[in-house]
Amino acid sequence: MKKYSVPKNFISSVGNDNLDTYQSLRKSSKEDSDSYWASVAKRIDWFEEWTSINNTDYSKAHIEWFSNGKLNASYNCIDRHIENGLGEKAALIWQSNDPTISKNVSYNELLEKVSLFSNGLKRAGISKGDRVCIYMQMIPEAIVAMLACARIGAVHSVVFGAFSSDALKNRINDSECKLLITQDNGVRGSKFDIPMKENADKIADECPSLKTVVMVERSGNAMFMKEGRDLTWNQFIDGCSSECPAEVMDAEDPLFILYTSGSTGKPKGVMHTTGGYLVYASHTHELVFDYHKDDIYWCTADIGWITGHSYIVYGPLSNAVTQVIFEGVPNYPDFGRFWQIVEQHKVNVFYTAPTALRALMKEGDDWVTKYDLSTLKVLGTVGEPIKSPEWHWYFNVIGNEECPIVDTWWQTETGGILMSPIPGCVPTKPGSATLPLPGIIPAILDEDGNEIEERNTTGYLVMTQSWPGQMRTVYGDHQRFIDTYFSQAPGNYFTGDGAYIDDDGYFWITGRVDDVLNVSGHRIGTAEVEGAIGAASGVAEAAVIGYNHEIKGEGIYAFVTLMTGVEPSDNIEQDILNTVTKIIGPHAKPSVIQFCSGLPKTRSGKIMRRILKKIAQNETDDLGDISTLADPSVIDSLLQK
Ligand code: WTA
Repeated sequence: MKKYSVPKNFISSVGNDNLDTYQSLRKSSKEDSDSYWASVAKRIDWFEEWTSINNTDYSKAHIEWFSNGKLNASYNCIDRHIENGLGEKAALIWQSNDPTISKNVSYNELLEKVSLFSNGLKRAGISKGDRVCIYMQMIPEAIVAMLACARIGAVHSVVFGAFSSDALKNRINDSECKLLITQDNGVRGSKFDIPMKENADKIADECPSLKTVVMVERSGNAMFMKEGRDLTWNQFIDGCSSECPAEVMDAEDPLFILYTSGSTGKPKGVMHTTGGYLVYASHTHELVFDYHKDDIYWCTADIGWITGHSYIVYGPLSNAVTQVIFEGVPNYPDFGRFWQIVEQHKVNVFYTAPTALRALMKEGDDWVTKYDLSTLKVLGTVGEPIKSPEWHWYFNVIGNEECPIVDTWWQTETGGILMSPIPGCVPTKPGSATLPLPGIIPAILDEDGNEIEERNTTGYLVMTQSWPGQMRTVYGDHQRFIDTYFSQAPGNYFTGDGAYIDDDGYFWITGRVDDVLNVSGHRIGTAEVEGAIGAASGVAEAAVIGYNHEIKGEGIYAFVTLMTGVEPSDNIEQDILNTVTKIIGPHAKPSVIQFCSGLPKTRSGKIMRRILKKIAQNETDDLGDISTLADPSVIDSLLQK
């Protein structure tokens, strides 16, 4: 595989095209991990310094960093920049779905908005440790709401705006949120009235902990408002003071919960705490994006996912960036939207998902070349492997061969990027996240938990040591935390991904080793989708498989058996799609539904997914060993698609 050295005009802060610099950083972080992380932690402001750095014990699934340190994340993302004379600097450049509308929010304005809303929260009875749910699209108020929670010590749980009302309800109830912040409608692409408040109304009465619903007026459409429960954003802050001192938080006080899919049906509430998470998000944001203080930064993620938490809110804002936040979609009003925004706002650092690149690449280069993209310096990707065609398109057409590409590998659980080239310092290879960041010690293990020393041999990717941004627990279910991450390879954090190391020591992620799909960079559990399909009327059983999809990376292929007497029909197919949309959301809808008379099962009743995978991928010449099938005749019926 060809290696790409650093583009010649790129000047890195760390050391140009210089693996030695990387190796020495890595060496020092390994030799004296505590001193390394102590020096990293000094980048943020602490009200009181920690008494010890790392009190983690993987054998007990206990993770603890910067013990007894006191700080506040909202203070670090706003107040201290103002104290440093950056009050008038733009924090956010909000680019509306409408190309003619954009709005700047300075750090001074951000402080005022956050303080007002913090006081509103307090007046509504929210205090330190209480959970608050945020169900919004990409509008400045979403970020204000997150930072207001952090300011008073409330724990936010952001639910991606495309989730259905059922999914919202389950998340609110799991963490017993007292207050929900939403907006009347979402406005994205050609859709101007995505139901948000209406979804909340459907389930609010089934959430016993929920006392207050706050609604931003975005579309301005008239909404039902329940007396005593619902308030508009403006009513909620009306009469509040615009001063609100930041609460003193312990390093290990929870900052947020973010639900993510696992191999079983119920999503996990990944819990991150204040000190380690903030240090890690802030540090990696600067290191991986080679961030300079006058850069214009743009991450196209949604705050409903971890990328939005770490690389829109806490990382960038703790580093006093000016960043674009974008309400719309890449293909509205046309396929040039991303590049038009890069030109308009003179973006220097651009971070997106491979799925978006694939979708745009197929529309041709003319959408790109009509814009001036010469401000771009660093290009990043996240969420799924980037394959060679889109890597080269990104590098050649978007970056004009002048921008290093940072392929960042990480997870909701890791809080921040664990593997990525440091731009300028580490030569890149298309499709590889290259090397672990300093302080991160991965290993590849075999089935028995032994380290695989040979090169180019795939195994389970684990982390042998903790890092500050690591999740602390599954909210309300520490046993699940232990079972999911610390039982497969005791003494290590089990990532759930497969990987191998090539001859140059570069890491290649081969995908999930559990039943988690990655559809357009969105993490979806097969069990969740199977459960949702099973709720459609007439369905007996479903098995869901990921298959290679040109744009989405992985598409959802569902094999469905129907109850006796029920015949396959377009109506049933539509009902299945509607049910999945209702229970999870439109992003979890299968791309293919194949009705079948039976699923291939072993004698003990386990579905043989490997056979279904081959059928879904059209690799039916050799189905492998089928001798353990309870009923081999199902194969014939499955092949008659
Ligand atoms: C996958 C997203 C290959 C991986 C930040 C991981 C990747 C899961 C990459 C986490 C990458 C993420 N290359 N695969 N650069 N980045 N993944 O929790 O399977 O939504 O375990 O976090 O996405 O998804 P999550």
